[in-house]
Amino acid sequence: MPKISPSDITPEHAYLSRRSFMAGMGALLVSSVALSACGGQDPTPGPAPATMPPSPSANTDELGQRLTSYEAVSNYNNFYEFSLRKEDVARLARDFKTSPWTVEVAGLVHNPKTFGLEDLLAFTQEERVYRLRCVEAWSMVIPWLGFPLARLLKEVEPMTKARYVRFETLYDPEQMPGQKSPFYGWPYVEGLRLDEAMHELTILATGLYGSPLLPQNGAPVRLVVPWKYGFKSIKSIVRIELVEEMPVSLWMASAPREYGFFANVNPEVSHPRWSQATERLIGEGKRIRTTLFNGYGEQVAHLYEGMDLSQWY
Ligand code: MTE
Repeated sequence: MPKISPSDITPEHAYLSRRSFMAGMGALLVSSVALSACGGQDPTPGPAPATMPPSPSANTDELGQRLTSYEAVSNYNNFYEFSLRKEDVARLARDFKTSPWTVEVAGLVHNPKTFGLEDLLAFTQEERVYRLRCVEAWSMVIPWLGFPLARLLKEVEPMTKARYVRFETLYDPEQMPGQKSPFYGWPYVEGLRLDEAMHELTILATGLYGSPLLPQNGAPVRLVVPWKYGFKSIKSIVRIELVEEMPVSLWMASAPREYGFFANVNPEVSHPRWSQATERLIGEGKRIRTTLFNGYGEQVAHLYEGMDLSQWY
């Protein structure tokens, strides 16, 4: 196993400075605004860097990696509802109707509520520069816009017996041709434990690079959980349900031996068909070592105390 070098670990001052940066950004509002997960280890080179990306507010993520170009972020996508081919998603999703849009939050809550997109945008939007580490062993560094999921969950007041959160993507095969495929149990479903969902790093994203999300990135609202493999970050959410039992995700149902519920990034646990020790940084033409919890261990490791991380979670 490769050793983690000191430069791979987020120094506390960097983390703290990100915190204060984020606090400063707090006022930034969005103005307008055999089955295998993700197809198996990705063999293709990433798209070329964009010439004119929208201007980001930060240049690197917490581990010092540069932002991935806007062009790559919006043209190299996993969104199986549209296509299994990353390069085709943007084109096939172009006319996807994202307005009007509602997200129903229900289940074991005292105050169930249906949020319109305007309600979601009324939460103060922050910029968060996170690495998205796909289970296929590639990654991107993306400046998201969004707000902590915890804020929305607090509004609906989870009951004490709620232990998990279940998320569901829109089901509309007419708009999402991939949902006509019988190989997957649509709609796309994902889940988090309630404490993971309430963690400060877990956000609902409504934009990236300062603009509203494009359909291919999960418009109008998606989850982003930066210490887990990208398939947990479910797109185009229409329903969030607080439940007592661990939800079964689309990937758990489709390939239970390959994709588990927790899916925490872990370089020491290989996928059954490939190593997770390194990742290809899209647009940078290089591989870097993968870090435990995708570099966010300082913030999230306590959530898993006592759990055996050597298993494929
Ligand atoms: N959400 C839905 N509904 N459908 C999907 O196919 N793919 C997941 C995740 N969310 C997926 C999804 C995977 S495998 C990854 S790596 C990320 O979205 C990719 O997000 P991006 O295309 O915005 O980079």
